[in-house]
Amino acid sequence: MINSQYKTEYKRYLDLFNEYSEKVFSAVKTESNLSTAMAYSFFAGGKRVRPVLMLAFADILGGDLNKALPFAFSLECIHTHSLIHDDLPALDGDVLRRGKPTCHVEFDEATAILAGDALLNLAYEHSLSSSTTLDDIRALECLAKFTGYRGMMQGQQIDVENEGKGGDEELLLKIHDLKTCKLLTVPFLIPAILYRKELMPLCERLGRLIGLIFQFTDDVLDVLGEEEKLGKSVGKDQQSQKLTSISLYGVDGVKARVNQLEKEAKNIIKSIDNTGFLQCFISETVGRQI
Ligand code: IPE
Ligand code: IPE
Ligand code: MG
Ligand code: MG
Ligand code: MG
Repeated sequence: MINSQYKTEYKRYLDLFNEYSEKVFSAVKTESNLSTAMAYSFFAGGKRVRPVLMLAFADILGGDLNKALPFAFSLECIHTHSLIHDDLPALDGDVLRRGKPTCHVEFDEATAILAGDALLNLAYEHSLSSSTTLDDIRALECLAKFTGYRGMMQGQQIDVENEGKGGDEELLLKIHDLKTCKLLTVPFLIPAILYRKELMPLCERLGRLIGLIFQFTDDVLDVLGEEEKLGKSVGKDQQSQKLTSISLYGVDGVKARVNQLEKEAKNIIKSIDNTGFLQCFISETVGRQI
């Protein structure tokens, strides 16, 4: 697949996802500011990497995209919840997200906390309402497990607990595995649960590699990226004395590791994806500026 084909395919999944999300949100209305704040952050302009990957992988496995859409929507709700809470003054204290003022800046802290909570609930309400089979329930269990106290939330907690304390490679990988890789494993694991269970162990390995590439490049962009393009503040990790791949390996060290991870990830996908979409996704992620 050449790059222009990849871009067209990405847009096809993105449009499908956004159209579906608009429809779901048209029924999310509260008399308070809550639904306005939920929609504000959800539609602020994220890359939609996780839902696009889930739809693409469902397609690669020959699955029904309509079946994958509710799970893709729920995952993006949970991701948006994690960003709203990540930006709160009690966590990273950021004022810019997806090119706009963060939820607590646009509204207020109470609203941002509640909008994050409400997106988390909406995720499960929505997927539950379209779940009919035992496999759907297993997919939901995976979503809950990978994003909760054994997954992303635990990673966020360890991340903030260790600010200003330094730390070694083991701790860094634990944080990245939990806060980022878990959410990036779900797009592979859920289609595998629904359509090809024998691929589950391979999907876990692939999700971890892609998650590490994603977070390592996020750490690099915090140092070398441009606020305008990224739509979020830069230089925050050093300011908050975070344990990141940069603080441990330096920019060149991180880039060398990313190249190694890219090789490993591309090797794994050879056996499952003959469309070339995932190959392009990995190359794009390694070279991403946003
Ligand atoms: C940001 O995720 C959080 C990290 C795991 C680094 P994204 O870079 O996917 O953010 P959006 O969804 O495009 O805003
Ligand atoms: C956050 O990692 C990952 C989440 C679970 C939200 P970061 O704190 O590095 O993400 P950014 O840089 O604020 O997007
Ligand atoms: Mg953070
Ligand atoms: Mg942050
Ligand atoms: Mg970051």
